[in-house]
Amino acid sequence: MNSFDVVVIGAGAAGLFAAGAAGQRGLRVLLIDHAAKVAEKIRISGGGRSNFTNRDATPANYLGDNPHFCRSALSQYTSADFIKLVQSHGIAFHEKHKGQLFCDHSSQQLIDLLLAECAKGGVERWQPCGVQAVRRHEGDEARFELDTDRGLVRCHNLVVATGGLSIPKIGATDFGHRLATQFGHRITPLRPALVPLTFDATLWTRWSALSGVAVPVTVSVTPPPPGGKGKARPVSFDEDLLFTHRGLSGPAILQISSYWAPGLPLSIDLAPGTALASALKQAKQGSKRQLSTVWREALPESLPQRLALAWLADIRHEHPALRDEAPAAELKDKDLDALGQSANAWTLTPSGTEGYAKAEVTAGGVDTRELSSQTMESRLCPGLYFIGEVVDVTGWLGGYNFQWAWSSGMACARALQAA
Ligand code: FDA
Repeated sequence: MNSFDVVVIGAGAAGLFAAGAAGQRGLRVLLIDHAAKVAEKIRISGGGRSNFTNRDATPANYLGDNPHFCRSALSQYTSADFIKLVQSHGIAFHEKHKGQLFCDHSSQQLIDLLLAECAKGGVERWQPCGVQAVRRHEGDEARFELDTDRGLVRCHNLVVATGGLSIPKIGATDFGHRLATQFGHRITPLRPALVPLTFDATLWTRWSALSGVAVPVTVSVTPPPPGGKGKARPVSFDEDLLFTHRGLSGPAILQISSYWAPGLPLSIDLAPGTALASALKQAKQGSKRQLSTVWREALPESLPQRLALAWLADIRHEHPALRDEAPAAELKDKDLDALGQSANAWTLTPSGTEGYAKAEVTAGGVDTRELSSQTMESRLCPGLYFIGEVVDVTGWLGGYNFQWAWSSGMACARALQAA
């Protein structure tokens, strides 16, 4: 029978990092994962180059029923700390956009870093190895007993790092959520996040021809307040939006999807910073030009021509006077107001999301009210810890989710004690 100070279940970002750090503190650590390959999500992340942290990560970049829960872990182990570790392994990286740091070469470098840290800590890794059952064990040395593919294992501390539900085809399961429930924890509602949004097929036929068109926008939504308490406040992002065959994607939509709930409308400004209705009314004064020309000139250069024309064609169903060739000077202000406002505040309600098959993360998870924010230890079951995405802490797009994996992993690793 095998016995360890710590068993970590899940050799993804959080599990590998915590296992290495705990091993380097002198603890005997076993890391178990049911998948044959290590850290597949890291491998595919950031287009194969891993957006491994964000220079500017703060608690404001995270969602969950208790938005303050992540504060302690993020301050105990910051993005600057992880950057130092990346530098110490000689991994070249660059900043792409808004503090987002990517490996110059490949996400494999990040996996190699985590494996090297585990080797330094003498971590034993069993992979692939399934876990069939976990029980509380009454004993001085071991507090948990696990039935695994490789036999019975006992441990003093059990760390659950099995991640969220997104991308089941590379090994995501609800194991961590089920284990949490077994030990009396609540799970806040789970939903796909950082995910493309879909629209009713009959509505979307109007826009599906624009598939592949990208445009910088401001997108907003007003979600219910976190945990259902307090005032609902609008949330908005300035990023690119991408039209797809079934709906909308791109960084703007992925970001807002984490705050969206069924039935909530989105408001999209296709020309941020330009009051289009005023610009159109001003442009028509003494002008002999056609509406299509005046419209094109009022729009930002970043808005593609295909979208500008499609927009005019669409609004013409409700405002027939808005023909491409109509002399702008002859158009009524109310029609130009409608045109301008439609693009400054495009209001539409998604019918759903592309689901866990396409979501980068899972929002919701192990309820943070029953975890210590300093150590990630269960308040219900001493020695049981939850780290990474399995917890109800979800980061924005841009390296924030990996930073949560590192920070929560380190908070746990520093708190673990030998038997
Ligand atoms: P993670 O999912 O990494 O690991 C969980 C591990 O548990 C897996 O190895 C799994 O096999 C194992 N497991 C599951 N069930 C088990 C069971 N029953 N028994 C044993 N083992 C089990 N984030 C970011 O910050 N920057 C980025 O660039 C990206 N890019 C990105 C791209 C794509 C396509 C996706 C899907 C996600 C991202 N993310 C991201 C999100 C990021 O990958 C994610 O938040 C972290 O990997 C979460 O780390 P965890 O260790 O919690 O889970």
